[in-house]
Amino acid sequence: MKKVTKAVIPAAGLGTRFLPATKAMPKEMLPIVDTPTLQYIIEEVIGSGIEDVLIITGRGKKAIEDHFDKSYELETELEKSGKYEMLQEVQKISRMINLHYVRQHEARGLGDAIYCAKSFVGDEHFAVLLGDDIVDAEKPCLKQMLEVYEEYGASVLGVQTVPEADVSKYGIIAGEQISDRVYRVHKMVEKPKLADAPSRVAVLGRYIITPEIFDHIKNTPPGAGGEIQLTDALQSLAQEQAMYAYDFVGRRYDVGNKLGFLEATVEFALKREDLRDAFLAYLKRIVKNTP
Ligand code: UTP
Repeated sequence: MKKVTKAVIPAAGLGTRFLPATKAMPKEMLPIVDTPTLQYIIEEVIGSGIEDVLIITGRGKKAIEDHFDKSYELETELEKSGKYEMLQEVQKISRMINLHYVRQHEARGLGDAIYCAKSFVGDEHFAVLLGDDIVDAEKPCLKQMLEVYEEYGASVLGVQTVPEADVSKYGIIAGEQISDRVYRVHKMVEKPKLADAPSRVAVLGRYIITPEIFDHIKNTPPGAGGEIQLTDALQSLAQEQAMYAYDFVGRRYDVGNKLGFLEATVEFALKREDLRDAFLAYLKRIVKNTP
């Protein structure tokens, strides 16, 4: 079985749930405390041992490339003023990993975005991490999934059970549980009504996929919302190949939605030694005084 060496991060969506902030700024660059969302995701990729990453970008996403590039002016300035710790932090970003970029010309859906990765991926199994989903976990979520992939040698979807009220927001799987945290996937439905949902097990922004997916995306007509849905293509792939879902360990944040963004901001701030005490005291005070 081939090792997974490549990851794809789609970040070309329009971010309409976060307007007006996302009018000129990519939602993948929204900072959680002081670090852009996308940087957390790239750190997860690095922590999982993958060194080649393709970011799918689009119009208005230049800040992404600039953030991960070398910044001569800033670095010279920091060096001159002796801010070495900050300098290291800034340099770390541009040295992190081999980053490649491709543009999705129109935001025609996640399936279409992944199709833009076809020539980068070639004939290999590859990882996909959604650009607005952060998973906070002791062992990086992607690393957990790669271990499952090594056991089964097939596509693996990262899943968790979601509350009933959230079922209609996600791709939902039907499958049979074959071990503590692993399901064999039989079927997938994108954003079903609760009454039609086969389970509450939702696909949450992490995938390991076989290259045959590209043929299935090509044959996938626009689905929910007129977009080419990755879920539809995966559903079609699952009819041909074994597919697994793994209930990953970790707290997942949908940073592309306002409440998810706020939750991530508060919880990450509370984990920061430099902020925790003052921030917690502030939160207590404000909660007490808020009717
Ligand atoms: P979302 O559905 O959360 O992104 O896609 P969106 O369309 O930008 O969000 P809203 O609903 O308008 O607020 C999940 C990930 O897939 C990428 C997004 O950038 C995000 O990281 N995506 C989505 C693309 O790259 N291209 C697309 O056409 C759609």
